[in-house]
Amino acid sequence: MEATHRPVISSTGLFTPSESISNEELVESFNKYVELFNAENADAIAAGGVEALAPSSVEFIEKASGIKARNVMVKDPILDPETMSPRWEERGNDELSILAEIGVKAARQALERAGRRPENVDAVLCAASNMQRPYPAMAIEIQQALGIDGFAFDMNVACSSATFGIQTAADYIRAGNAKSVLVVSPEITSGHLNWRDRDSHFIFGDVATAVLVEDAAIAPPDHWDILGTRLKTVFSNNIRNNFGFLNRAHPETSNAADKLFVQEGRKVFKEVVPMVAQMIVDEAERLSIDPRGLRRLWLHQANTGMNRLIAHRVLGHEASEDESPTVLDTYGNTSSAGSIIAFHLHSEDLAEGDTGLICSFGAGYSAGTVFVRKTAA
Ligand code: COA
Repeated sequence: MEATHRPVISSTGLFTPSESISNEELVESFNKYVELFNAENADAIAAGGVEALAPSSVEFIEKASGIKARNVMVKDPILDPETMSPRWEERGNDELSILAEIGVKAARQALERAGRRPENVDAVLCAASNMQRPYPAMAIEIQQALGIDGFAFDMNVACSSATFGIQTAADYIRAGNAKSVLVVSPEITSGHLNWRDRDSHFIFGDVATAVLVEDAAIAPPDHWDILGTRLKTVFSNNIRNNFGFLNRAHPETSNAADKLFVQEGRKVFKEVVPMVAQMIVDEAERLSIDPRGLRRLWLHQANTGMNRLIAHRVLGHEASEDESPTVLDTYGNTSSAGSIIAFHLHSEDLAEGDTGLICSFGAGYSAGTVFVRKTAA
């Protein structure tokens, strides 16, 4: 008889950069930039040729998003009103690149927590929305730095990269092609964020997460059974970044604002909430799980308002912080890593048999669900 392979989550890892920017610091620097811009362009503004910039506000940011602070790899250049973008020394090809470095830190923690040696891992997926370069793959660099034999590749599904990575890893396990797969999501979102754009300058933060997906046959006794995974994509221009190597063909526009993150925030809110809530309920039904009985939702951390609405539609009541924990307040939106940070920080208290949901949504549009159940020794 053919052996069945059951995918589980054996462990997770988290790397948090040491520097953090509060809303107060962010707004102070943004408003200095606005003052400078308006002073430098005073004549053109008076003549009607240039529009004056409006200041940002701490109250708006917190009310609209729930974000109070965000971690970043480097704080000073972002807050310098003359720079307003991250800066670091370019590294040589023989040095570990910065994105791989933080991915390795999160991955090492996941391996340690599972008691897994790198030589027993079969594959590494670098699943993130902000790759440092097209090739060689970040995943292969991470694989080498960890000392893993096997294969590795990058996948970018924007904010849903981690859940798409988990399903891909789970499928390798189910098919018997791998027993242990690392899904690493290093997100240096400060590089794609337009820190000069009042509508979005507060949204993102930097971080790295890792998820070790394994065959139940080799997993540690404490793990999370993966009950089912489901992915969905629907094309939308409402979250978009046009940065890419083909921009070199258009040098005159290659630094324009659309080569950074741009979104129609209200449309995203209106269109994504019902799509994701329905997807969760449909998938729960397929798996014979009562969504109202879910012990915890680890949702993508984009916006507290979106999460509140999605959780309400799934659970049938206003979710408590215990039912749908937020990490958005201190981490900001960390793209694909958000739901994994929530899971990493808020899952140890669950009991054997508790069922929960890791869920992501974002650009593409893309959305992914991973229903899990705790198994304890
Ligand atoms: N400080 C002060 N006021 C600001 C501001 C800022 N930083 N940014 C925008 N405003 C003002 C706008 O000018 C507007 O003023 P008006 O009503 O006088 O025109 C008002 O605040 C509302 O702006 P709007 O952009 O419509 O805000 P919003 O309430 O829709 O909130 C988001 C903006 C982005 C937080 C919200 O749309 C959202 O959460 N969308 C979900 C998308 C998301 O999180 N995507 C991330 C990728 S998954």
